[in-house]
Amino acid sequence: MARILITSALPYINGIKHLGNLAGSMLPADVWARFKRGQGHDVLYVCATDEHGTPAELAAAAAGQDVQTYCDEQHEVQKAAGQAFGLSFDVFGRSSKAPNRRLTQHFAAVLEQNGLIEERVDRMVYSIDDARFLPDRYVEGTCPHCGHVGARGDQCDNCGRLLDPTDLIDPYSAISGSRNLEVRDTRHLYLLQTKLEQPIRDWIDSRQGWQPLARSIALKHLDEGLIDRGITRDLKWGVPVVGPDGGPRPGMEGKVFYVWFDAPIEYIGATEEWAEATGGDWRSWWRLDEGADDVRYVQFMGKDNVAFHTVSFPATILGSGEPWKTVDQLKAFNWLNWYGGKFSTSQKRGVFMDQALELLPADYWRWFLTAYGPEHSDAAFTWEQFQSATNKDLADVLGNFVNRIVKFTESKFDGVVPDGGEPGPLETKLTADVAAAVAEATALFEAMEFRKAAAAVRAAWVLGNEYLQEAAPWTALKTDRDRAAVVVRTALNLIALFARLSAPILPFTAPRIGETVGAADLSWPASDEDLFAAVAPGAVVAAPQVLFAKIEDAQVAEWADRFGGAE
Ligand code: MF3
Ligand code: ZN
Repeated sequence: MARILITSALPYINGIKHLGNLAGSMLPADVWARFKRGQGHDVLYVCATDEHGTPAELAAAAAGQDVQTYCDEQHEVQKAAGQAFGLSFDVFGRSSKAPNRRLTQHFAAVLEQNGLIEERVDRMVYSIDDARFLPDRYVEGTCPHCGHVGARGDQCDNCGRLLDPTDLIDPYSAISGSRNLEVRDTRHLYLLQTKLEQPIRDWIDSRQGWQPLARSIALKHLDEGLIDRGITRDLKWGVPVVGPDGGPRPGMEGKVFYVWFDAPIEYIGATEEWAEATGGDWRSWWRLDEGADDVRYVQFMGKDNVAFHTVSFPATILGSGEPWKTVDQLKAFNWLNWYGGKFSTSQKRGVFMDQALELLPADYWRWFLTAYGPEHSDAAFTWEQFQSATNKDLADVLGNFVNRIVKFTESKFDGVVPDGGEPGPLETKLTADVAAAVAEATALFEAMEFRKAAAAVRAAWVLGNEYLQEAAPWTALKTDRDRAAVVVRTALNLIALFARLSAPILPFTAPRIGETVGAADLSWPASDEDLFAAVAPGAVVAAPQVLFAKIEDAQVAEWADRFGGAE
């Protein structure tokens, strides 16, 4: 049994997340956490809301609320949405809580002791009409790299480059729209990343588990050359900047740490929140000198987050010189698009987590977003594809198999698993094929190849349908009751197996599938297991309420109308 620490990128507090956010970090992290727990491993899945910085302040202002109230409310909204989607976080913390504040101030202090922090007076964008500095997202303008209009001061959404607000061409205030801006001097802390280039490079070399997308993004950033990074901001909301002794820092009163400095530290902070709530030992997950040396740490995130996790956060951790656990494997996702374009919160394009569950249960979405998600390239959400995937994979292949054989058992064998008969050549072949599909699904989940793993699970379902078709118990029953009994028993055992194989992706439906044959074990099958031993003669079966309803054309039309589709 291994100890596995899983984190998914912390969703910004600024409103409920859309399906693209879900598909690119939290959902695959959850599927993998469930897979690993199903294998019996000791998993800690950590997530939290990312509550600081300009995203929080701007959203609160737009909602007409003070930031604390806004964050309190939105945290609960996101927590509830995560629960409703079956996201099995061991903790869903808040970066605005005390553990993160302590840790953030601690890291800044040790970095400073190590000569890696410098105070600099720098030139920042100041809005005369708003009477304040405009850090990060408070200023928008044209991207100097790709010409995208409406790029934010911290990052261009179009080309993904990290920006400095002073880079923007034709900048304007995101608060007032004012172009009455000037550049003024202000004092900030800089993390001297230039001094950390070699340690970061060596560390990346030591992480052979990373997938190619993550590695190439990390190396690209290193090759472009690291720059010293401002880690404080002229904002009110955030972790206060303090002096090395914890008291106010002269000349930096009222300033806070940059949200991207404190947010990843919340992975640790949230683990501390978990420990406070459960009595667990957070240090044994994070401190190499206190037990974390045997932890395997896997991070999930969208590709825009990779640089922060492979360079910036490691700079904090490595620069501290302290024995913190660092990431072993990093799984990055591409974008889920809404038809040809982007999901957009401001333009209300696309489906958001709460809305999705008004339409259909979570497992429908979980299946589509896993089996057809934006894994190795961008993927598009369209109602038509969603309909077709649901109807074929879930209704026709999985749901229909379960229904058909359980109903047959009810009508012909009084709902009791029949005894008699011996397995024949068809069963021998099925056993081998199913074992191969399970082995493949296991290897693919292990490799975090989610689309392919889902396809392997589906391939196992298909084997069940093909077997029933060929073995045709309804025909056998007319002449050979024992033969029909063998087929029915075999197929009912497949149901128990399918429940287990479905559990990581379909956590709400898997237990219902298992219940039809009285099978409660939803663990992931081990390689040496007899896969046809769960359902014994004499057991009682009961057909489920509809497992998956087909999506009708009329529903697609209604939803396309309500949410906007292709335009
Ligand atoms: N909130 C960020 C985003 O949505 C992700 C933060 S991940 C963290 O892009 F670890 F750094 F917190
Ligand atoms: Zn750009």
